[in-house]
Amino acid sequence: PSADERYRPVLHFTPPQGFMNDPNGLVFADGEWHLFYQHNPFEAKMGRVHWGHAVSRDLLHWQVLPLALRETADGMAFSGSAVIDRANSSGLLAQRGEGNGRGGMVAVYTRASATRQVQALAYSSDGGRSFADYRGNPVLDVGSDQFRDPKVFWHAPGKVWVMCVVRSREHRVMFYRSRNLKDWRAAGEFAHAGVYGIDYECPDLVELPVAGGGTRWVLFLSINPGAPQGGSTVQYFVGRFDGRRFVLDDGATRFADFGKDFYALQTFAGVDGAPVGIAWMNNWQYANDLPTGRWRGAMTLPRRLSLRRVADDWKLVQEPLGLEAARRQVIAQGPGRASTALPPDTALEIRLACAPDTVTSLRLANGTGEYLEVGYDPGPAVGSVWVDRGNARGFRHRFFTDKMSWAPPPDGKPLDLRLVFDRCSLELFAAGGTGCATLLHFFAAPPDRLELAVAGGPLPDIAVHALLPTGGR
Ligand code: FRU
Repeated sequence: PSADERYRPVLHFTPPQGFMNDPNGLVFADGEWHLFYQHNPFEAKMGRVHWGHAVSRDLLHWQVLPLALRETADGMAFSGSAVIDRANSSGLLAQRGEGNGRGGMVAVYTRASATRQVQALAYSSDGGRSFADYRGNPVLDVGSDQFRDPKVFWHAPGKVWVMCVVRSREHRVMFYRSRNLKDWRAAGEFAHAGVYGIDYECPDLVELPVAGGGTRWVLFLSINPGAPQGGSTVQYFVGRFDGRRFVLDDGATRFADFGKDFYALQTFAGVDGAPVGIAWMNNWQYANDLPTGRWRGAMTLPRRLSLRRVADDWKLVQEPLGLEAARRQVIAQGPGRASTALPPDTALEIRLACAPDTVTSLRLANGTGEYLEVGYDPGPAVGSVWVDRGNARGFRHRFFTDKMSWAPPPDGKPLDLRLVFDRCSLELFAAGGTGCATLLHFFAAPPDRLELAVAGGPLPDIAVHALLPTGGR
């Protein structure tokens, strides 16, 4: 592959060219998953922000469609969400004389100029292929230049649309309610919680199923900069929501990911059952500097989200979607070997369970001494799952931190690891998806072997599959 293409993931969505950041307007409708995204089509750097658009029927193959929302004289099209307005509560689809009884798609986004950030609507009656801006825009203007990222959802018990949106520099998440998506009334707010960072960004409030029964509402809240590991990250809060107020179950702030490259998580509208989310697989500390040439920015795999109670604590559970269908060649299955050759340039899924009493490590390596390492150390009392990208030499940056780790709750049982490696990314799902790390890495030469080691005892069983190119790139 050319220098510009050698890092392009196989399974993960990337823009054809230019810069991409946050996922926007995620909505499932009529068998299609819509992924809109913050996009500068002109240059592989943040700036001139439009909404790009792609659709998928299986969450693996993405088809890129024309730009959905554009930068205008009023400003750029910053982050936001989309809903299907089936009942045409907005009246916008009828207004265009195109109401077909099935409503249409309404995007709610931030129009951002140098001096003002306001919330605006755009609507589509052709499945998101084209949008018209609402003539009555903006629908919310509080006179602020730091007011953005509206996430709108249908609150069925109250039969009302709810928006969460941030006054980012004031560290406040505001809730608004509306019957028609056009007129919004302030409801409650959730403020000054968790890790503030400089800005709160990209809030998403969603009801998650709890393993064993029941549900809880989770508020995902991105912060940038100010993450514990530097730069940007996603924290979450667990509580209850009555359509107006979000009340915490406990005061705890939790983080969705212990890697460094997981930001602006958003969930899809229109999904029954457990919500599905996608995050931007990046960190603002170096997003503009990645060595990927004429494109920059990738999304995570879509993940199903739920909650689990572990040792009297809430854990977010994340499960990647679509991998079973993406599996092709079996590279290894059964007793682990110290070294396994890898086919060149493939995406991989690797699964193993580490013994509870010995250090286990796994390396993707090449003959030039480069490697990416993942491991588990049960420790004397509390264990650590770690990732180390410091020995892949394709990118140097002062903030491209090398090691990250997580302490699983000690339970004396084997620790399961599931890894998805895709050219320049690694997603690790540990302990049943309760400990996840998402990180970019850049090898100067691709890895060609998998090395497995333990500090004593037999090598664990391992399952390794090639995840073949699935098109759409
Ligand atoms: C988060 C963010 C949002 C904003 C968008 C601009 O990454 O800063 O707050 O709407 O990116 O592209």
